[in-house]
Amino acid sequence: MKILEAKNYHEMSSIAAKIIIEKVQSKPDAKLGLATGGTPIGLYEELIQDYRSNRTSYERVCTYNLDEYVGINPEDSNSYRYFMEEHLFAHINVPESQIHIPDGTAEDLEAECERYDVELNRGEGVDIQILGIGSNGHIGFNEPGTSFSSHTHIVDLTETTRKANARFFQRLEEVPTQAITMGIASILKAKEILLLVSGINKAEVMKKLLTTDEVDEQLPASALKNHHNVTIIADEEALSLLREKKFQYK
Ligand code: F6R
Repeated sequence: MKILEAKNYHEMSSIAAKIIIEKVQSKPDAKLGLATGGTPIGLYEELIQDYRSNRTSYERVCTYNLDEYVGINPEDSNSYRYFMEEHLFAHINVPESQIHIPDGTAEDLEAECERYDVELNRGEGVDIQILGIGSNGHIGFNEPGTSFSSHTHIVDLTETTRKANARFFQRLEEVPTQAITMGIASILKAKEILLLVSGINKAEVMKKLLTTDEVDEQLPASALKNHHNVTIIADEEALSLLREKKFQYK
């Protein structure tokens, strides 16, 4: 894993944006794996800015989101579909038909997971997967204990995750208890992975992740150590509990 230390959230977002923009410019039909949450918002703002000033085109790009809440309509402002529309899709020229997000309102959720895996595996794999990390080490909604061989599946969200995400809802009770998420194995199929990490509340998990060689299903993000092309872009606060700064892991 390569680690790029950014000064702050803004620099983390700019470094990530540069990598994505270069990919889309060199491969106009790139497949991008996208995340929601607070972490990638700055990255998406930079992509929009670049689209407006440099006209980087997303006309042939396909996007695949990591996850979606179960039981929330795509039109609902709390859905991840809505989040992506608001923070990225409405502002760039990616065609609707090339956007992929699991449907958390599907009648048969198991069939929806299978359908999503088929979409993901169509043609070449995802070129770059963007990830954030939960303070408990989750990636996507793969909570501690999730099998590293998991594909798209339904998860019960932990209380930690529901509380962390309650900031996007009016009340904690409104946060769904389940989600559909790409599994660890589905995520690791991407050719390149960018893990973005910002803020002091991620310092503990970064220390856990980066101070041992251990690959353990109790720390889902440790699965990334099994991938050949992972770059962690983390800011100073997120790396503040690590004594060795600006180091290369492995
Ligand atoms: C979001 C996702 C989650 C978040 C993680 C961090 O699609 O899959 O794993 O990346 O919960 O969330 P933030 O960025 O809000 O700290």
